[in-house]
Amino acid sequence: MAKSFPHSFEVCNCHKVTLGEIVYVVKEKGAKSLDDLAKLTDAGTCCKCCVDASCDIGEEKMQLYLTQILNKFNK
Ligand code: FES
Repeated sequence: MAKSFPHSFEVCNCHKVTLGEIVYVVKEKGAKSLDDLAKLTDAGTCCKCCVDASCDIGEEKMQLYLTQILNKFNK
């Protein structure tokens, strides 16, 4: 079962963007892509470790990725 996260969960640590902000721009502003999220929130525009698991090293893992969130809404 997928873990659930509060809307206050910080998805993008570099720009302090929360899950709630991501959900808001997807639902209310029509964001459908990583580019849209970047333009509307700046999420994923610095180290990019919040985008997907590609920069996970060993036990150092982000818990939730922008691509996971977009996939959930783009089904
Ligand atoms: S954690 Fe999102 S760009 Fe670095």
